[in-house]
Amino acid sequence: MDQIVNVNEFQELARQALPKMYYDYYSGAAEDKHTLKENVEAFSRIMFRPRVLVDVSKIDMSTRILGYPISAPIMIAPTGNHMLAHPQGETVTAKAAAACNTIMIVSCMSSCTLEEVALSCNAVRFLQIYVFERRDVTAQVVKRAEKAGYKAIVLTVDVPKLGRREADIKNKMIPPKLRNFEGLTKVQPSEGSGVEAFASRALDASLNWKDIEWLRSITKLPILIKGILTPEDALKAVEAGVDGIVVSNHGGRQLDYSPATITVLEEVVHVVKGRIPVLLDGGVRRGTDVFKALALGAQAVLIGRPIVYGLAAKGEDGVKKVIEMLKNEFELTMALSGCPTIGDITRNHVRTEDERL
Ligand code: FNR
Repeated sequence: MDQIVNVNEFQELARQALPKMYYDYYSGAAEDKHTLKENVEAFSRIMFRPRVLVDVSKIDMSTRILGYPISAPIMIAPTGNHMLAHPQGETVTAKAAAACNTIMIVSCMSSCTLEEVALSCNAVRFLQIYVFERRDVTAQVVKRAEKAGYKAIVLTVDVPKLGRREADIKNKMIPPKLRNFEGLTKVQPSEGSGVEAFASRALDASLNWKDIEWLRSITKLPILIKGILTPEDALKAVEAGVDGIVVSNHGGRQLDYSPATITVLEEVVHVVKGRIPVLLDGGVRRGTDVFKALALGAQAVLIGRPIVYGLAAKGEDGVKKVIEMLKNEFELTMALSGCPTIGDITRNHVRTEDERL
């Protein structure tokens, strides 16, 4: 473990640890994978405007999301099927989240049930959901999440149909049983169906803004919408009365040539005007990326693939190491930029490509 010095190194370790089909599933993205690459590269085009001679002898990275305190603005993104990476699946990831004092967003496509994840640790958990054609299925899962102590519902809105992930198509990747939906046979993937066929059968492609009202009517939990990429939709989300948004392109797994999330963050933040929290995911691989996202207005970032790579390579210790490395890098970035607290990070601490001479 001591030999691992940054988050990117976990990708190769995961590749070595996993069967090719599963590694391809985790690392893959839609079509040309342009958005996948852009998510990472766009961060590298943002430079710092560091301030000096500020007392940075004490750095405080702590913050709050929907009122819940976390040790740093780095959370776990919802990713499905953790048992493909580790025999105990999401229960292990959740233990690492608790140890690192952060929030885990559990995918409804988890390989452990949402109740098993809840029992495994006392981390603050949000539940990510998709809306199925059978609304009663989604409603039941939301009720179960409430009962199991989940603190918010994250509705993912960028999958009316599944993006074309060509590696999964070539590998004839079949998702394992969806334990959250056991007994609801219609939404179980069947032999030979493949991820894509399953999603097109079960997910409700007619989902639209009016349905947010329906979701609001069945739960008192805060609702976040994940998959916003334009100020127009950010404004609609605020008007629909949601409690937060996640600027996300699903890690480049849905519409290829969607913009890198960090490039649209600022225009989204501009229209939201601080009314609800704005989170961001996609391509966050360094503490410097976390700082850049906060400087451009995000309250926190979510980490997707590096978490499953850490899980596949080294189990709970791997996930903890991923989060700890990002936290250490972020702490150093705060110090070297002259920002002792999260509140000190401002728009003036970064320079985007447009602003360069
Ligand atoms: C995902 N993502 C995802 N999102 C979601 O809302 N529900 C889900 O079940 C999944 N499942 C999933 C599986 C795998 C293997 C990956 C890689 C991603 C998307 C995820 O939440 C997040 O948006 C991206 O992964 C963030 O980008 P990075 O950090 O992977 O670059």
